Amino acid sequence: MKTYNVAIAGATGLVGRNFISILEERNFPVSSIRFLASERSSGKRLPFRGKEFPVEVLKEDSFKGMDLALFSAGGSTSLKFAPIAAESGATVIDNSSAWRMNANVPLIVPEVNPHALNGSHKIIANPNCSTIQMVVAIKPLHDAAQIKRIVVSTYQAVSGKGKAAVDDLKRDATNYLQDSTKFNLKQHAFNAVPHIDVFLDDDSTKEETKMVNETRKIMGEPNMPVSATCVRVPVETGHCCSINLEFERSLEPQEARDILRAAPGVIVMDNAKEQIYPTPLFASGKDEVFVGRIRQDNSVKYGLNLWVVADNVRKGAALNAVQIAEMLI
Ligand code: A2P
Repeated sequence: MKTYNVAIAGATGLVGRNFISILEERNFPVSSIRFLASERSSGKRLPFRGKEFPVEVLKEDSFKGMDLALFSAGGSTSLKFAPIAAESGATVIDNSSAWRMNANVPLIVPEVNPHALNGSHKIIANPNCSTIQMVVAIKPLHDAAQIKRIVVSTYQAVSGKGKAAVDDLKRDATNYLQDSTKFNLKQHAFNAVPHIDVFLDDDSTKEETKMVNETRKIMGEPNMPVSATCVRVPVETGHCCSINLEFERSLEPQEARDILRAAPGVIVMDNAKEQIYPTPLFASGKDEVFVGRIRQDNSVKYGLNLWVVADNVRKGAALNAVQIAEMLI
């Protein structure tokens, strides 16, 4: 079997560490591995398959001889280094938002639009975390009954913001339990913050705009009406999406459950009578997208509501990228 030289840019970060463990778990055919991060990490070592490897400082010559480069080191790092890695001969799978809306860069969710990969691309974008789990759940329903409009509200875990934010959440939670009069109004602990990424001129956030634009690109529906509100909640791992779908044709909840039971990468956990539905604590550490609370939305002619939960660091980031790499090989 052919094996591959793999570089990981941002190896010390939350997603970077998940790239490493998912390559191990899935037995990806790696011949050599190179861990790259900032100067802050120089001297650190990280394990892979029972051995330790040094973390090297990301530089222009870091990608010589590499076949595959997995990036999760921030947008500006990707903007600068992804073309350098591609020029060096590596295929880049980039987890930042830097390249996602570039018309020459495919934006891939393997269960949804594998056909958008044709083998010629040197930079491939991994979509936004909430968008990935949403499209995995709604594309099969779209194929069945043609979605007319999507309204999504997210409940996003703090790990989506990186390792430092998770440390802040734990520290702020501990402090708040000791003295609930001392807090920062926008802290994540014991709070819900409707502000993910920067605000844009139209008063939406960049995260909300990513969900709109990326959903359209991945689903191949450039004019699909999508309305998104993205909220950070005090959860460590696991994003939730409350999704209201309006369809062209009737789709009963039971039919939707049957379609989703047969859909790749989806597990239906939905039984109101038995109080069965997915939560982030359940989805954390798992690979699939979990769907529950499927019910009729009677506010429109043909409407359904769903609750979609997935591990944002795995399916929302590292796992999706490794699945793209698996498709490439
Ligand atoms: P470092 O650990 O050296 O700061 P997270 O999203 O969990 O915060 O992780 C971000 C990842 O991106 C880390 O591995 C971090 O490395 C890396 N990173 C951030 N900025 C740079 C940069 N300018 N060059 C290389 N790696 C970077």
